[in-house]
Amino acid sequence: MNNELAKVAAAIVAPGKGILAADESTGTIKKRFDTIDTVSTTDSRRDYREMLFRTSDAMEKHISGVILFDETLRQKAADGTPLAKVISDTGAFPGIKVDAGAKPLAGRAGETVTEGLDGLRERVAEYVELGAKFAKWRAVINIGSDGRPSHTSIHSNAHALARYAAICQEGGLVPIVEPEVLMDGDHDIDKCYAVTEWALKELYQELFYAKVELEGTILKPNMVISGTEAQTRAGVEEVAEKTVRVLKNCVPAAVPGICFLSGGQSDLEATAHLSAMNAGYDMPWGLSFSYGRALQHAALNAWGGEASNVDAAQAAFRKRAHMNSLAALGKWSEASENE
Ligand code: 13P
Repeated sequence: MNNELAKVAAAIVAPGKGILAADESTGTIKKRFDTIDTVSTTDSRRDYREMLFRTSDAMEKHISGVILFDETLRQKAADGTPLAKVISDTGAFPGIKVDAGAKPLAGRAGETVTEGLDGLRERVAEYVELGAKFAKWRAVINIGSDGRPSHTSIHSNAHALARYAAICQEGGLVPIVEPEVLMDGDHDIDKCYAVTEWALKELYQELFYAKVELEGTILKPNMVISGTEAQTRAGVEEVAEKTVRVLKNCVPAAVPGICFLSGGQSDLEATAHLSAMNAGYDMPWGLSFSYGRALQHAALNAWGGEASNVDAAQAAFRKRAHMNSLAALGKWSEASENE
């Protein structure tokens, strides 16, 4: 067992800590900036992200790792300090998104397979030099009434995740394995349960075949939740119960931590669901957050692309980081939002 990887993975899910996912690709961050009428340039992306990484209290107290896009890992703060150092000076680990995105799966309309294995060994070596301690690869699973997901989609994505994870461990990075079952669709929560179970069973089988050491990994799953267009939406307790049940059925206890993606849930839903799981259930792994939108949404809106709004934006980020930290401890309630 590689003790260094196990130590990093365990530290990522230290009690009350979680991950800031700030690894939006250039295309995705442009979409986020479009919503606040801000032009996405190398400098505006740097300014926005530097603002988050320099949010005092939020980073030191609540954030154990930050996932970066390639550009950001190479960028310097306005004062010339590498952004990776700004992050590590707060005590958090810099991480890196290494996949090349979800690409159309040949022969399977509406489905994708995540690419990026070519040259990955060399890129991992470079990212380690640049200070990264962990990596992320996101697979996307679609639910549809037309037979999605197919076995091909579940299997190809799990296989790619396992090959990625093995290469990361060989090169010295903790792999975050992310099989995201999307919320899009009118399916009910039980359909989400069934597809999540299938994706996780296949993933852990492939990780076994690839000889990935689970102690040096983190799982980043979706929660088990109703589709966004579902006629009735499951409440917080049902989401918590079904999510914990599927994880207990699929994720070995050797995995040190599970950090959820927010996946389009509202900020409050993402916090409430995580807190209900931690408050209500005993689990063999640490259970925390690796949120992108649910941590950044309020801060992005408060910022609005204006340097004069930095304090307000940092206050908004500090608050979501604090609320999700409480949720990771199972200690959040609606009243916490107003304290
Ligand atoms: P969201 O929390 O916005 O889903 O993003 C997390 C992430 O890193 C997706 O890969």
